Amino acid sequence: MKPIKVVVHGALGRMGQTLVNALCRQPDMQIVGAVDLKATDDSLSLPDGSGRVPLSSKLELILTAVQPEVMVDFTTAEAVMPAVRTAAEHGVNLVIGTTGLTAENIKAIESLAKAHKIGAVVAPNFALGAVLMMHLAKLAGKHLDYAEIIELHHERKVDAPSGTALSTARAMAQARGRPFSTPPAGKKLASRGEAVEGISIHSVRLPGLMAHQEVMLGGEGQTLSIRHDQISREAFMPGVLLAVREAAKQKGLTYGLESLLGLEKK
Ligand SMILES: NC(=O)c1ccc[n+]([C@@H]2O[C@H](COP(=O)([O-])OP(=O)(O)OC[C@H]3O[C@@H](n4cnc5c(N)ncnc54)[C@H](O)[C@@H]3O)[C@@H](O)[C@H]2O)c1
Repeated sequence: MKPIKVVVHGALGRMGQTLVNALCRQPDMQIVGAVDLKATDDSLSLPDGSGRVPLSSKLELILTAVQPEVMVDFTTAEAVMPAVRTAAEHGVNLVIGTTGLTAENIKAIESLAKAHKIGAVVAPNFALGAVLMMHLAKLAGKHLDYAEIIELHHERKVDAPSGTALSTARAMAQARGRPFSTPPAGKKLASRGEAVEGISIHSVRLPGLMAHQEVMLGGEGQTLSIRHDQISREAFMPGVLLAVREAAKQKGLTYGLESLLGLEKK
């Protein structure tokens, strides 16, 4: 079988570089081009020493030259939509990892995928362990009445609570279909974290940490803890590579990895 031809948009960024490395190790994929605003050369040397691929700050130019099957985007919320439109017009399937997309953006990607008969996988978190942690938390929250989330991140993270913690709390509440119980003293105490859907979220920021989240649930005489620890950017790669394989096969929008992992129906 021919390898899937992939272009990386944002190839010189942290995620882009990790992905270029990962793609070089896949026998069923081939990186054929790279795009980044910071490009100063017209080619990129591949980290496995296998040669060079075209590099440009202009996506259109690269797509026309190398005609990939899939474009993976790890850029910025401002850069992603123009890139999605250009790629869709070229009939290129999409894998979008860039965060900060609005609900309108997601709708627009869905319409573009439909109109151009391409596949688009959009996932706010490609770490398989994080996806599983959220899935298990949703399941557990249906049966245990109390839940709290402790999220721990490096000291440079600007937002708190983390986006993953907020999504976890909302998804747990939606799956449960009724409010979580809260301890009676909770409202009066100052240090109970941020309450989202009846779940207190506690944020820890310390050097030495990367991205960690523990969902603790409580019932009579028992607790259940579900914890995910992400210790490097490599954690995202199996999910991104899965999305590349599926984007080339599926048509239309797939949001999140749950359906690709068989956890939920599309
Ligand atoms: N979905 C996930 O699992 C996941 C995981 C990690 C990061 N992210 C997201 O991925 C994005 C990138 O993260 P990062 O840490 O690699 O950031 P980064 O700043 O290291 O890299 C972004 C790259 O995009 C390039 N870029 C910006 N605007 C561009 C444009 N108009 N055209 C071409 N290139 C452009 C920049 O030059 C830079 O090299 C962020 O939105 C981040 O939140 C998502």
